[in-house]
Amino acid sequence: MKKSEENLEFINVEITYNGKPVLTGLSYNFSKSAVTCILGSSGSGKTTLLRSLSRLNDRIRGFKVRGEVWVAGEEIYYNGVDVYHLRRKIGMIFQSPCIFPTSVYENVIFGFKYHHPERKKEFPQIAERYLKEAYLWDEVKDRLQKPAQNLSQGQKQRLSIARALAVEPEILLMDEPTASLDPVSSDAIENLIFSLKEKRTIIMATHNIAQTRRIADDILFLYDGTIWEQGKATEFFERPQKEETRIFLEGGSSSSS
Ligand SMILES: Nc1ncnc2c1ncn2[C@@H]1O[C@H](COP(=O)(O)OP(=O)(O)OP(=O)(O)O)[C@@H](O)[C@H]1O
Ligand SMILES: [Mg+2]
Repeated sequence: MKKSEENLEFINVEITYNGKPVLTGLSYNFSKSAVTCILGSSGSGKTTLLRSLSRLNDRIRGFKVRGEVWVAGEEIYYNGVDVYHLRRKIGMIFQSPCIFPTSVYENVIFGFKYHHPERKKEFPQIAERYLKEAYLWDEVKDRLQKPAQNLSQGQKQRLSIARALAVEPEILLMDEPTASLDPVSSDAIENLIFSLKEKRTIIMATHNIAQTRRIADDILFLYDGTIWEQGKATEFFERPQKEETRIFLEGGSSSSS
């Protein structure tokens, strides 16, 4: 069966570690050009779900996916999909900024250079364009050749995002991208996510309910190893359907980290 190029979908997926199910019966079709936030208490499977979309857990012993995971028109686990190709379509941002021990410039062009070594002449423009898109250019334009390790945490996270964007992924997966940032940096990333969703599909795992209310279009709430509740963010917050969701929203998991 062929799906549309824009399709991003789980069909009856089960994910296990060493035979123990973490997520079962996952069926969900993600909205395009929208922010979908994944909520759920610690250990509910948010990171596992995100990583399964770009096959980042393949090397973990005992990790197994059953069912169908469709990304950009292809089932990614059982059709001999080219993982290198897949990673060009999907960018991943982690909780702690992932920075290489080299300059700001080398960091931002790293992925682009890897995928397009022959387009060397374009590297400087690519660096500028994506640092601008990640709202970092003005802060680093005079220190492009300086070590990226010297940037602040918030700047490092925007640099990670700029590097991911430079590969022009259609989909961005973010795992608690502002959890380790101060409020000012967190706001900067939040505004960035808002501006990115016009052109990209963003899926973000988070514990930050206040932030989710501001930026989410759709919500997936994970509970008891499955998608417990799903829907438009406004509906979800105004009229949660299930008791467990209400308890979660009122409870201690609504930290603003
Ligand atoms: N490499 C692994 N091997 C075995 N079990 C794992 C592995 N990674 C995660 N798990 C288990 O899978 C479950 C889901 O973990 P996951 O990290 O996806 O949760 P999470 O919702 O992202 O939690 P948090 O909010 O704390 O980040 C947990 O029970 C965890 O112990
Ligand atoms: Mg996690």
